[in-house]
This record gives sequence, structure tokens and C-alpha cells, in this order.
Amino acid sequence: VVDIRKLYAQAGVFTYDPGFTSTASCDSTITFIDGDKGELLHRGYPIDQLAEKSHYLEVCYLLLYGELPSAAELEKFENTITRHTMIHEQMHNFFRGFRRDAHPMATMVGVVGAMSAFYHDSTDISDPRQREIASHRLIAKMPTIAAMAYKYSIGQPFVYPRNDLDYAANFLHMCFSVPAERYDVDPILSRAMDRIFTLHADHEQNASTSTVRLASSSGANPFACIAAGIACLWGPAHGGANQACLEMLKEIGSPDKIPEYIARAKDKNDPFRLMGFGHRVYKNFDPRATVMKQSADEVLDLMGIENNPILATAKELEQQALADPYFAEKKLFPNVDFYSGIILEAMGFPTSMFTPIFALSRTVGWVSQWKEQLADPQHKIGRPRQLYLGNTIREYVDIENR
Ligand code: ACO
Repeated sequence: VVDIRKLYAQAGVFTYDPGFTSTASCDSTITFIDGDKGELLHRGYPIDQLAEKSHYLEVCYLLLYGELPSAAELEKFENTITRHTMIHEQMHNFFRGFRRDAHPMATMVGVVGAMSAFYHDSTDISDPRQREIASHRLIAKMPTIAAMAYKYSIGQPFVYPRNDLDYAANFLHMCFSVPAERYDVDPILSRAMDRIFTLHADHEQNASTSTVRLASSSGANPFACIAAGIACLWGPAHGGANQACLEMLKEIGSPDKIPEYIARAKDKNDPFRLMGFGHRVYKNFDPRATVMKQSADEVLDLMGIENNPILATAKELEQQALADPYFAEKKLFPNVDFYSGIILEAMGFPTSMFTPIFALSRTVGWVSQWKEQLADPQHKIGRPRQLYLGNTIREYVDIENR
């Protein structure tokens, strides 16, 4: 068997590939994407089948362990995750140290990074048992942390997880329950929430996943690595796109303003881009967007908010952009964030929660890739090279002579 990595290193090959548009940084058996066909497979299973027939925790199992679980395996896994949903009570004090109106992503980066200070017994990456516990803790506690970050940002008391609810319903409960009022989770909303989680579960070597792998390549503990992934996801070109998209729709305000914004997106002298359109890999309809569009229609029907101006603007923008030759020629289609933003808005989430929800959904992808990397005996510390374009060597000039 030829070890390509060794051959490559021996040949002294040096490539310059800004943005890594055509350089593989690792091998993986988790997720396959064909951007031209618009295909996304997890462990070989098409995403639309998983979104239709499966649910988030089953997909988590598939990503983590490589196969769909038997009924007994799934039950055991769901019990384990459910048992880990509470966070250490002392962490509540840590939350309270943040400014009261902190962005939930800012809080999440800090709190998840701080898990390494609260859960010492799962930071030793050389111990497979500790690695396993860390991955369960991260998947189980992330909804609790995201919901607490939200509650803190709006000044409401924290809501503890409920073990009788499934993963998605429990998250909605922790976000929307208030002590003074009974909150019953609508099954259509929890199904739509579960789909959002499922459709964001993994997406191979995107910026945040590559960040997790790079951080992990130095041997950093899992909580530090996932905190790095959350920080990277925050940017508007990545996970922040769903928030940026909703903010753009609010700025557009009404369907009659759409042509003006489409013209701006096409103007090369204007840096404005239509948020929620385009993708680095998909040059066809993102298969996740197709499923998400269906969910968006269901949720909008349920909430009876077809006349909401933001949502009406979104529907019209989708139609006008899809009919525009500029977008067709550049293969720019609405991406998954376009529709997830609409669903989350309809559910009552503020835009500041959109990226935290993406982060909690993607945690399983980050953790699976982290596990896979550590299991590879040949994995190396990530150390990209650079193309130096600065000064050549020159003599130091004393300050009085400059
Ligand atoms: N609106 C208008 N024009 C666009 C858009 C857009 N949203 N996206 C790309 N283009 C144009 C660019 O101006 C460029 O035109 P040119 O060839 O005339 O120079 C061409 O399409 C290619 O764009 P690139 O930036 O080179 O494509 P890249 O693959 O690097 O970028 C990206 C992909 C970052 C997602 C981009 O499409 C974008 O900024 N979209 C808006 C933000 C967004 O929705 N991000 C979410 C991504 S999905 C996710 O993270 C889950």
C-alpha cells in the first residue's frame, strides 16, 4: 500500500492554495459531498433520507460510530445523552459573570472553552473512555448551554432540562418555558427543530470543522477544540449567515424593495452580497435547502404568519433571485441558512440565537471529526506553509537614523 502522505512529503511538493479550494487536509469516512450534483451523504446515507426517516440523535450515532444503530443501541445512546444534559451547577456562576446583554455566541465560546476547567475527568485524550465521555457531554450539554446563553441574554431565569422530552423538544422547552406559564412543545415545531439539527450535523471540512481539526492536531483537549470551532462558526460568511440573512431581510423590509437589493448584489463596485445565497462547494441546489424549504412551508402554515413582511420578503426574494440570469450563471442558489433563518424567525427565536443553534447542531460533526482524527495513528500537527512576499534580508536601522 502506497502512503500518499509520505510520498508527497518526500517529493517536497509545495502548493499555494488560498482558501484551500482544492487541497484536501485529511482523509475521512464520515461525509461525502458532490457539489455539482447537489449530493450530501453521511456514512453513505443521503441527507434527504436521513432528514425524512431518521432523527437527530440517530444521525449523531451514525456520525460518531459509522453505522445506523440497532433499536437497543439507539435506546442506550439516547439514555446516555439524556443523562448528561444538565451542566455542573457551579457553571451557573460562570454564566453570571458575562455582561447581561452578551451575544449568546460570545457566551457559548467562553462556556464551552471553560468546560475543560469543570470536567477534568474527560480531558485526557490518550484515554478512549475519557474521549467517549467528552463526546457525550458535548452533544448532551450543548443545547443546555445554548438555551442558558439565550435566557441570560434576555434576563430570564435558566430553565433546567427535562428528561421526558426528546432532544429537540427539550431544547425548545429550555428556550421558551417561563416559570409563570405552562409551555407545551408543539410536535410540528419540535420536528422542524430536529430537522434543523439533522441538516446541520456535519458538512466535511468547512471552516469551523477544519478549525476543530487544526486545534486538535496539537493535542488540545476536546472542549478547547470545540470552543475554537464555535468561534470560527460565528463569522457571517459561515454560521453567522443565517443571522446576517434575517437582518438583510429586515433591512429590505418589503417585497417592492427587492429589485434594488438584487441590483446591488450584482454591482461589482458594491461589496453587498445576498446573504443566504451561494456556497463554496454546492454549485447546484444544496440538498439540505430542499428539505429545509419543505419544513419552512410547514412551520409557516402552522404559525399562520404568511403575512409577516419579513417572511413575505424572503419568499419573493427567493423567486426573483432564482429567475435572475446573474444568479443562474454564477450558480448561486438559496443555501440552507436562508430557510433555517426563516423557520427560526417563525418559531420566535431572535436572530442572535440563529448561530448558537447552528453551533449546537454541528457539535456532533465536530466531535466525530475530532474522534476520527485522533484514531488515525498517522495524524500530524497541522502546520500550513505560506508564500512569503515581504522584504528580503536587510540591516537593522537604529531609531535615531529612521
Ligand atoms: N450575492 C451576490 N454575489 C455573490 C454571492 C452572493 N451571495 N455569493 C457569491 N457571489 C458572486 C461573487 O461576487 C463572485 O462573482 P465574480 O465571479 O464576478 O467575482 C462569484 O459569485 C463567486 O463568489 P466567491 O466569493 O468567489 O465564492 P466562494 O465560493 O468563495 O464563496 C460564499 C462562497 C462565501 C458562501 C459566498 O457565496 C457568500 O458570501 N454568500 C453569502 C454568505 C452566505 O450565505 N454564507 C453561508 C454559506 S453556507 C454555510 O456556511 C452553512
